[in-house]
Amino acid sequence: MKGVRLEETRWPEPEPGQALVRVRTAGAGFPDLFMASGHFPGLDTPPFGLGEEVAGEVVAVAPGSPFAVGDQIMGITPFFAGWGGYADYAYVLEQSAIRIPVGMTDEQAGGFPIGFRTAYAALVERAPVEAGQTLLVLGGAGSSGVAATQLGKALGATVIAVAGSDDKVGFCARHGADHVVNYRTADLVEEVGKITDGRGVDVIFDPVGGDTAARAISTLARYGRIAVVGLAAGTTVPIDSLDLLLRNYSAVGVFAGGHTPEEDAAAWGRLSELAEQKAITTSVGTVFSFDDVPAMISGQGSPPPGKSVVRVSS
Ligand SMILES: NC(=O)c1ccc[n+]([C@@H]2O[C@H](COP(=O)([O-])OP(=O)(O)OC[C@H]3O[C@@H](n4cnc5c(N)ncnc54)[C@H](OP(=O)(O)O)[C@@H]3O)[C@@H](O)[C@H]2O)c1
Repeated sequence: MKGVRLEETRWPEPEPGQALVRVRTAGAGFPDLFMASGHFPGLDTPPFGLGEEVAGEVVAVAPGSPFAVGDQIMGITPFFAGWGGYADYAYVLEQSAIRIPVGMTDEQAGGFPIGFRTAYAALVERAPVEAGQTLLVLGGAGSSGVAATQLGKALGATVIAVAGSDDKVGFCARHGADHVVNYRTADLVEEVGKITDGRGVDVIFDPVGGDTAARAISTLARYGRIAVVGLAAGTTVPIDSLDLLLRNYSAVGVFAGGHTPEEDAAAWGRLSELAEQKAITTSVGTVFSFDDVPAMISGQGSPPPGKSVVRVSS
């Protein structure tokens, strides 16, 4: 790791399209480790602020903002421009922010935006999963995996969550998965075959890559889709185009950024509705204190189950 240190800075008045928030909680994730170690595309020259998502109270807005001072919001930070969320104050991209639903805790709110926007990009925009279909979620106990399970259930799918320990599969089962497979102690392909009566799965949500994803591909049903989201295992999924052709499945890339305002408005509108109805909620795992941020980031190479969140202020 290149290092993480505490610094004082000043936050200029927000530019149009951004709101300044007093941060209560910030969501953690695997990309923090890439950023802190200098391996995140475009963020290789420190200093810059880490933290992709926050929840808190709006303290300043630019003219024309959809938010007002005092609003309680959760959203994605302009971390790619160096303004992250592990801080007393953070900017939030208004296009990627919504009001916190009544009854949602600060921890759930701080850990909501990235996981659910990623799951939405995969399961609605890129590899749509329909009611009655079967969804296989790799990295099922990870930040994006737990959100994909929740969203998959809300869309009416049967969800099989895959994780690498009994503790993690237990977490997946408690947070909405219909079936769980520990890929370290069971044969993934055999287990999925048993669960689906040999039919296979319609959609794979893959933030992991590597061998697990390669094995999972063989469980795809005819016309199935694999949504390639990330490579937590360190290598991308090897896709054999002849196999893809002969078995009639599709592989799609998913990047939950760079959307048009219209695409984001549709996505955040639907996510907000589902959160209001309590059809989806963040599966919070560990809550870290602000002082623990450096240790928490170092630990992202072997994260505990669920969405990790940092409590910044009360
Ligand atoms: N495309 C996008 O827009 C987008 C958005 C968010 C995240 N991502 C990417 O998606 C990936 C996962 O992100 P996340 O936030 O879900 O991560 P996470 O919370 O750390 O979960 C990743 C999961 O991957 C599994 N894993 C397998 N091999 C691993 C290894 N060598 N090191 C660490 N984890 C390993 C772990 O589960 P087991 O222990 O159960 O195997 C872990 O729970 C990352 O590559 C991230 O950059 C992409």
